[in-house]
Amino acid sequence: MKNIPFPIAVLVSGGGSNLQALIDAARTEACPYEIVLVISDRPGVQGLDRAVDAGLCTEIVEWAEYDSREAFTAAICSVAHRHGARAMILAGFMRILDRIAMERFPDAIINVHPSLLPSFPGARGVEDALEYGVRITGVTVHFVEEQVDCGPIISQRAIEVYPDDDAETLHARIQKIEHWLLPEAVEAFVRGNLRVEKRHVRWRQPLTKGEI
Ligand code: GRF
Repeated sequence: MKNIPFPIAVLVSGGGSNLQALIDAARTEACPYEIVLVISDRPGVQGLDRAVDAGLCTEIVEWAEYDSREAFTAAICSVAHRHGARAMILAGFMRILDRIAMERFPDAIINVHPSLLPSFPGARGVEDALEYGVRITGVTVHFVEEQVDCGPIISQRAIEVYPDDDAETLHARIQKIEHWLLPEAVEAFVRGNLRVEKRHVRWRQPLTKGEI
């Protein structure tokens, strides 16, 4: 008997290549989750087109229509709950959620960030790493807490920064990692294979992919 897939909402603000990776993973037979909703904070983004092409439900919750972060976040949580989502995955979502999101989806919000946190948090993780001159950067997948890019780390992978990299070439290599690291983390979460002990995320099963 097939298990009922775990319902997730994916939040996007732009291109949606990480959403696409989650969509592609969800199409495989053994995938334990289902994307019940894609939420964007703005209209006209490629992420919404990808969702429509995949036959997924979409909602736009526009930042400008709310007079506070709390009201904006409440609207997002309500729409996600209405569609039956039990977790929210931030896949290139460029807004900061109010703490009420963590109350409504406790330990069930995951973000992907294009640097090795705690280095280079914020919206310019790739550019800031380049400007600083680091030789190694990477990808972090983490649970979301109230402080930006600060929650318990689920997984990380490092990559080398090449001398001739610019933000575009570096980000392209970072995204190749994101596109398997995020689905892998979401799958582990949905299967109940992640246990959070304070700041530490324990994996019940060893990582299988992307060993360096
Ligand atoms: C990703 O690099 C992600 O780490 C960052 O924003 C980017 C979104 O890319 N938070 P996409 O929209 O998934 O293509």
